[in-house]
Amino acid sequence: MKSLAVIGPGRLGSALGRRLVDAGVELTGFVGRSEGSAERAVAFCGAGRVLGADELGGAAAVLVGVGDDDLEPTVAALVAAGIRAATGALWLHASGYHDRAVLAPIADRTAILHPLCPIPDPATGYAALDGALISVDADPADAPGLHDLARRARLQPLALAAGADRTTYHAACALAANGATALHDLAAGLFAAVFESADANRATSALMRQAVELSAQHGSRAALSGPVARGDRDVVAGHLDSLRDPDARSVYAGLMRRAVDMAVNHGSLDPERAAELRALLERDG
Ligand SMILES: NC(=O)c1ccc[n+]([C@@H]2O[C@H](COP(=O)([O-])OP(=O)(O)OC[C@H]3O[C@@H](n4cnc5c(N)ncnc54)[C@H](OP(=O)(O)O)[C@@H]3O)[C@@H](O)[C@H]2O)c1
Repeated sequence: MKSLAVIGPGRLGSALGRRLVDAGVELTGFVGRSEGSAERAVAFCGAGRVLGADELGGAAAVLVGVGDDDLEPTVAALVAAGIRAATGALWLHASGYHDRAVLAPIADRTAILHPLCPIPDPATGYAALDGALISVDADPADAPGLHDLARRARLQPLALAAGADRTTYHAACALAANGATALHDLAAGLFAAVFESADANRATSALMRQAVELSAQHGSRAALSGPVARGDRDVVAGHLDSLRDPDARSVYAGLMRRAVDMAVNHGSLDPERAAELRALLERDG
C-alpha cells in the first residue's frame, strides 16, 4: 500500500494512521464528520490534509475507521452520494465485530486490519500499538502485503481463520481488554478502603500483571491459586458477605464459579467441595 485515505479521524484512525505513516505509507488525509476532527488527526499524524468524501473515489486505499455502529450507515451514505471505490482500490475497516461484507456495497477488494490493543486516545493508542497484535482478514492476494505492512508499522500480524465467527472473536477481545480494565477498576475500588489511592492502583496492577503473566507462561488453569483452588469454603463465604456492592458481589461470584470449574478440570479441587462452592456462589448472581 503506497497511499491511504482515512474516513473517521478518531482514536483508531489517528493512532493507526500515524503508525502507517511511520511504515512509509503516504497518508493523503482524513474525512471527518464533526467540526475540527479531521484537522486534529492531520496534526496528530503530521501528514495529509482534510479530505472531502468526493475525493475518495480516486483513492488507491481507504481505511473506514468509523465506530462499529456507524460503519454500515457511512458506507450506505457514500454509495448514496455516488461514491464507489476506484478500480482495483483496496478498502479496509478496523472493526473486530463486522466482517468484510459491510464494505461490499462500495468496493470489490476489501480487507480488515483489527488491532488487538486498547486505544483509549490517539497518543496512548499510538504508543500501545508498538509491538501489539493486529488480526488481518484479506484475500490471499492481499494478505502477504498487509502482513508485511503491519510488521513495518511495528505490529505483529495474526491471521484469522477463514469464515471465523467475528462476533465471538470480538466478544473475546472486549472481555480480555475492556473486561480486564473494568475488573481493575473494581478491585482498585476495594483496595481503596485499605490503601492510599496510588497504592490501591499499584496493588491491583501488580496482582493483575502477575496473574496474566503466569497464565501466559503456564496456562490459566495451572496459574490459578487462592481460596477456590484450595477449596476454602468459609473464606469464599466470608468474601461474599463482605462485598456490599451488588455489582462487585455478582462479578466475584461469576468469576469464582469459573475458577471452580478450572480447579476441578486441573485436578486441584475435589468434586464434592466444588459442589459446595458452586452452591454458595450460585446464591450470589
Ligand atoms: N479504540 C479502540 O480501542 C479500537 C481498537 C481496535 C479497533 N477499533 C475499531 O476502530 C473503529 C473506530 O473506533 P474508535 O474507537 O476509533 O472510534 P472513535 O474514536 O469514536 O472514532 C470514530 C470516528 O469516526 C468518525 N465518523 C463517524 N461517522 C463518520 C462519517 N459518516 N464520516 C466521517 N467520519 C465519521 C467520527 O468523526 P467525528 O469525530 O468527526 O465525529 C470519529 O472521529 C471501530 O471499528 C472500532 O471497532 C477501535
